[in-house]
Amino acid sequence: MTDIGESTPQDLSLPVHPLIAERWSPRAFDAHRVVEHDKLLAVLEAARWAPSCYNDQPWRYIVGDRLRSPPIWQGLLESLAEVNRIWCQRAPLLIAAITDTCFEQSGEPNRWAPHDVGAASAYLCLEAVHQGLIAHQMGNFDADALRRRFGIPERYMPMSIIAIGYPGDPHLLDGWQRAAENATRQRRPLESFVFEGPWGEALHR
Ligand SMILES: Cc1cc2nc3c(=O)[nH]c(=O)nc-3n(C[C@H](O)[C@H](O)[C@H](O)COP(=O)(O)O)c2cc1C
Repeated sequence: MTDIGESTPQDLSLPVHPLIAERWSPRAFDAHRVVEHDKLLAVLEAARWAPSCYNDQPWRYIVGDRLRSPPIWQGLLESLAEVNRIWCQRAPLLIAAITDTCFEQSGEPNRWAPHDVGAASAYLCLEAVHQGLIAHQMGNFDADALRRRFGIPERYMPMSIIAIGYPGDPHLLDGWQRAAENATRQRRPLESFVFEGPWGEALHR
């Protein structure tokens, strides 16, 4: 294990599947290592198999591969906030996650749509880990700029941009972003968000 870039969940109180234990959100990408197209298809396939309300599958993805589709990749990069763009410039794949806000058949509002695209993107990120890749979701981007750039209709809502690639050298990162690569990852304890009975009554282990 190196001194940096090996962030692990330090307080994993119970064993979970290795894919879950190993997934995290790094910022250090290898700018020179291309992601095989089959691996990209596999991570998208994982998103495809997420559950969704009425099986409506409201998720849509815009894929930018720096080698295969440079203008799309560039457009996604430029939609990101500067704080993300600075490290995403080394990510070979950028993928925008967008949701249909209405049910496909009825056209009625689908209040579960953001939930479902989140589930699909979580599947996508776990499959990335399975493929030996790293993935980092971001909410800090200009959704209107993305909309304009890619002609996303009003009914669809951009939710995140996901950077995917192979792990790179954390020493290329600046300041706090470099320090964050080695920070201890933390989570609330189960008792603070799982209730047994009335609201706020903590789960008894
Ligand atoms: C919807 C969403 C938006 C996020 N936005 C950003 C972002 O704009 N920039 C960033 O560096 N990380 C972003 N993250 C990553 C989170 O900061 C990260 O998942 C969280 O700190 C937990 O760390 P972990 O993924 O390593 O477990 C986002 C994650 C999610 C799911």
